[in-house]
Amino acid sequence: MTDDEIRGIMFDAFAAGTDTTSNTFCFVLYYITHHPEVKKKLLDELRTVFKDDLSRPVTMDDLNKLRYCEAIIKETSRIRPTVSMVSRFGDQVDEVAGYKWPADILFIMYVRGINNNPRYWKDPEKFNPDRFYDPKEIEKQQKFAFTMFGGGVRMCLGRNLAMIEMKILLASLYRKFDVELVDMKAPLHVTTSTVTICQHLDVRMIPKTELC
Ligand code: HEM
Repeated sequence: MTDDEIRGIMFDAFAAGTDTTSNTFCFVLYYITHHPEVKKKLLDELRTVFKDDLSRPVTMDDLNKLRYCEAIIKETSRIRPTVSMVSRFGDQVDEVAGYKWPADILFIMYVRGINNNPRYWKDPEKFNPDRFYDPKEIEKQQKFAFTMFGGGVRMCLGRNLAMIEMKILLASLYRKFDVELVDMKAPLHVTTSTVTICQHLDVRMIPKTELC
C-alpha cells in the first residue's frame, strides 16, 4: 500500500470508529444504571463466565459466551442508535418500495424510527435486552427492523471490531467496578447530527473486591 492509502485507512478507522463506539458505550452505561434488573443479569453472566477472577484477560471463548452483554449493547443501540440515519444517493432513475424515483436523489433512512417502530417491536419504549434472545425478534432483525451498523455493500466494516471492543470494555469495567450515575434524575444530554453525541455523563466508579 502507498502511504496515502495507509493514511486513508487509518483516518477511516479513527473517524468512523472512535465517536461511534465511545458514545454507544456511554448510552450503554446510562441504560444499565437505570435498570437494576439488567445490571443483575449482567453480573450473573460475568460470574458464570469469569467465576471469581476479577482480572484475567478476556479471551475469544469468553466473548462468545457474553451473550447478555451483546444483548445489552444491541438493545441500547435499538432504543438510542448512535448513528440515527443512513443515506444512499441514487444517481439513476429507480424503483424503490413500489415508487418510481428520479435520478440524483438522496434517500435518508431514519434508523431510530425503524428501530422503535411499534409495528415491529412490542413496547418499543421499554429497555429490554431479553428481546435479543427471542428468536422471533432476531428474525425481525434480519428483515431490517433493527439496524445498528447500516446494511448492504456499504455496511459498517468495523462492526465486528466495535462489538468486540464494547463487550470487552463492558465486562472489564463491571468485573472491577460498580458504576453509578452521579445524578440519576439527569436526562441523557445529547446532540444529534450524523452521530448522536453524549455531551456529558457523570459517573462514579467504585472499585470492587469481589464480583457481586
Ligand atoms: C458502535 C460502533 C459503531 C457504529 C454504531 C457504527 C455504525 C456505522 C454505520 C451506521 C455506518 C453506515 C453504514 C451504511 O451506510 O450502511 C458505518 C460505516 C462505516 N464504519 Fe462504522 N460503526 C461503528 C464502529 C466502527 C469502527 C470501530 C470502525 C473501524 C475501525 C468503523 C468503520 C466504518 C467505516 C470505514 C464505514 C464506511 C463504510 C463504507 O462506506 O463502505 N465503524 N458505521
